[in-house]
Amino acid sequence: MDIVVAADKNWGIGYKGTQNLVVPEDRRHFREVTGHGTVIVGRRTLLDFPGGRPLKNRRNIVLTRDPDFTVEGAETAHSVEEALELVKGDPEVFVIGGESVYRAFFPYCQRAYVTRLDAAPPSDAFFPDLEADPAWCLADPGEEREHEGLKYRFQVWERR
Ligand SMILES: NC(=O)c1ccc[n+]([C@@H]2O[C@H](COP(=O)([O-])OP(=O)(O)OC[C@H]3O[C@@H](n4cnc5c(N)ncnc54)[C@H](OP(=O)(O)O)[C@@H]3O)[C@@H](O)[C@H]2O)c1
Repeated sequence: MDIVVAADKNWGIGYKGTQNLVVPEDRRHFREVTGHGTVIVGRRTLLDFPGGRPLKNRRNIVLTRDPDFTVEGAETAHSVEEALELVKGDPEVFVIGGESVYRAFFPYCQRAYVTRLDAAPPSDAFFPDLEADPAWCLADPGEEREHEGLKYRFQVWERR
C-alpha cells in the first residue's frame, strides 16, 4: 500500500479543508501514479474533489464513521480494518488523504509518492515528517521542476 501526497517544505498539506498550492503537472502525475488502482480517501477530502465525486477509472474507498453515508461511484469503509479487508487482494492501493487518513494508514504503507513543493504557505493539515523518521528513506529525490516560480520535485520515499 502506497501514499500519494503533495507536501510543502514543512510537510504542510492543506489549509481550511483544501490544498492552497496546486501545480497543474501534479494532477497528471497523480493520475499516472494511481493509474487504475484503488484509492483510499477520507470523507472530507472526497467532498473537496470537483463536484464531491469519486475519482474516475479507479476503485474508490471512502473512510467515514457515518453509517448512513453513501456516494455514487465509491464504497464506504467505517474503520481502518474494514478498509484493509475491502482492499485485500487489490494489486495497487493508494492512500490519498487527507491528514487523518494518511496518519491512520501510515503504518501499513511501504512507499510514498511525495510532490514536494519548495514553499511554506499557511497550513493547518500536515503529513508526518519523513525526513525526521529513520524508518523512511528518500529513494528518488526527483528532478527540480518549476511552475510560475514555484519549485517542486516528484520524490519517492520508501520504508527501510
Ligand atoms: N496535499 C495533499 O496531497 C492532500 C491530499 C488530500 C487531502 N489534503 C488535505 O487534508 C485536509 C483534510 O484532512 P482531514 O484529516 O481534515 O480530512 P480527511 O482525512 O480527508 O477526512 C476525515 C474524515 O474521514 C473519516 N475518517 C478518518 N479516519 C477514519 C477512521 N479511522 N475510521 C472511519 N472514518 C474515518 C471521518 O469521516 P466522517 O466525519 O464522515 O466520520 C473523518 O471526518 C485538507 O486540508 C485537504 O486539502 C491534502
